[in-house]
Amino acid sequence: MNFKNPINEYYHYIVYTLLTIVLLYILLLTSSSKSNNFALSPSQPTKTFNMKMYGDELEEALVGASTEDKMVIIAIVNKAYVEGDKPMLDIFLDGFWLGEGTNDLIKNLLIVAMDQISYRRCKFLHLNCYKLETDGVDFAGEKLYMSKDFIKMMWQRTRFLGDVLKRGYSFIFTDTDVLWLRNPFHNLSLNKSIDLQISSDNFNGNEWSNSNPINTGFYMIRSNNKTIALFDNWYHKKHNSSGLKEQDVLQKLIRTKDFRNLGLKLRFLDTIYFSGFCQNSKDVKAVVTVHANCCRRISAKMADLTAVIHDWKRFKSATLNETLRFQWTPHDHCRDSWRN
Ligand SMILES: *[C@@H]1O[C@H](CO)[C@@H](O)[C@H](O)[C@H]1NC(C)=O
Ligand SMILES: *[C@@H]1O[C@H](CO)[C@@H](O)[C@H](O)[C@H]1NC(C)=O
Ligand SMILES: *[C@@H]1O[C@H](CO)[C@@H](O)[C@H](O)[C@H]1NC(C)=O
Ligand SMILES: *[C@@H]1O[C@H](CO)[C@@H](O)[C@H](O)[C@H]1NC(C)=O
Ligand SMILES: *[C@@H]1O[C@H](CO)[C@@H](O)[C@H](O)[C@H]1NC(C)=O
Repeated sequence: MNFKNPINEYYHYIVYTLLTIVLLYILLLTSSSKSNNFALSPSQPTKTFNMKMYGDELEEALVGASTEDKMVIIAIVNKAYVEGDKPMLDIFLDGFWLGEGTNDLIKNLLIVAMDQISYRRCKFLHLNCYKLETDGVDFAGEKLYMSKDFIKMMWQRTRFLGDVLKRGYSFIFTDTDVLWLRNPFHNLSLNKSIDLQISSDNFNGNEWSNSNPINTGFYMIRSNNKTIALFDNWYHKKHNSSGLKEQDVLQKLIRTKDFRNLGLKLRFLDTIYFSGFCQNSKDVKAVVTVHANCCRRISAKMADLTAVIHDWKRFKSATLNETLRFQWTPHDHCRDSWRN
């Protein structure tokens, strides 16, 4: 007897359909979660390369340091920044300790170490640390400004930071020769439509003007397709930019049509808040960061940043009348660092 029960068949059909839907759903879910993590990664090879290169340790470090909305503060160090009586990293941390409303920001700070010594120092200080594996290059010593190794190190950091963006993390990048004297989030725009807010050596008064000279020693960048494309674009200029450091390459890039096509919203930070030795903040009551820019050697930076710390302490204990007369100590060591 070849009698088919139509109801039985109907149930088979339903079960089969449901199974197919569930399978499809699982497939879609895994593929979409992948593309979220690596939105706009330019090609498959880069993706696998990134995973191999960093493994899960980077993700772990980022999760440990970032805020709930995936914002992290990143500083990159090497051996030269952790050695000596009063290393640069210690001066940098003094800023967070002495600054107003900056103590708690330490937990969102991720120190990226380019060699074993700076990594161990970071762990010793109980900070959030990540050891960046650099393909066989020794980045331990002081890299004299614009030397071949200096430029190589800068490109390494550009690639790394682009990879952080690809993982969906927004960040403030800060050099360790930047003193954080106040909480910068009060003077950074929280408007999500602004992709990049970057400090300037000499602010021209207009925060939307691309003719401000950029300084990549301090900036806040949001992770999105546009900023990922910017970093890819920037890094791909590496092999065609002999003698230029990554900051100069970005500076040039910002003034091109390619950049305008990316549609990035870029805001320049006023030096009254985000200042440096190139242009002092005009108001110590407003200043947020002080960067030892326009300076050539670590030793000179350290000497003049130490003077800034003294200035800051003087300001904090000053009477109103003294505050009115406040002036920054001249940055003599940095000025002299340009002579041989
Ligand atoms: C900068 O931050 C200070 C302190 O929160 C605030 O009083 C001031 O209005 C801010 N200025 C700008 C331009 O955001
Ligand atoms: C954010 O900035 C955009 C333009 O850049 C503006 O249109 C929008 O109103 C701003 N949003 C807020 C909440 O200020
Ligand atoms: C990035 O681009 C991809 C494809 O171009 C798009 O599917 C995705 O929604 C974009 N993501 C964001 C955050 O804009
Ligand atoms: C490199 O730069 C030269 C001169 O500016 C240009 O002609 C060439 O197309 C560039 N190559 C790449 C790969 O961008
Ligand atoms: C502050 O300065 C004003 C004028 O310069 C002066 O009259 C006043 O006595 C000063 N106050 C103190 C406490 O020094």
